[in-house]
Amino acid sequence: MKKFSVFIVIIFSAIVYLFAQTGTVDIKASVQRGKKVYTQYCLACHQADGGGVPRMNPPLQKTEYVLGDKKRLINIVLKGSNDPIEINGEEYVNPMASHAHLSDQQIADVLTFVRNSFGNKASGITPAEVKQARAKK
Ligand code: HEC
Repeated sequence: MKKFSVFIVIIFSAIVYLFAQTGTVDIKASVQRGKKVYTQYCLACHQADGGGVPRMNPPLQKTEYVLGDKKRLINIVLKGSNDPIEINGEEYVNPMASHAHLSDQQIADVLTFVRNSFGNKASGITPAEVKQARAKK
């Protein structure tokens, strides 16, 4: 009986741990906070409607980067981007600066906002995911 209780405790802890790792995002609250971060740090270049500026700053509307691999998206904000990229058939060569000074929470919120605005619909991003990307460098 004692062994069984220990077993239950271990299983329960494992489940709690897994949930903490995955981190369920309250999308609505995160989007609201993220909008403020976007207005302050991204809007000047990517514009209020996420449409960007042709040949200068790429749009954030249903792009492969915004909707695709989360790690790549987080890394663009953390490290910026210097390589020419093609977005929706248009080439962009201007660099984007690193925004690593933003907190994990701010980056998670702004990307959750972007992934759920401008016609985008995608899962949220958690501070834990940002933290993980930051640690990898
Ligand atoms: C000074 C202007 C500027 C600011 C501020 C800026 N960006 Fe960018 N962003 C760019 C440029 C220019 C590129 C293209 C970089 C390249 O060609 O390598 C880019 C690329 C991107 C991309 C990948 C391409 C795409 O359109 O899908 C994403 C995503 C992105 N930015 C998100 C953000 C977010 C989120 C913020 C705010 C935290 C932000 N940017 C702030 C100019 C900016």
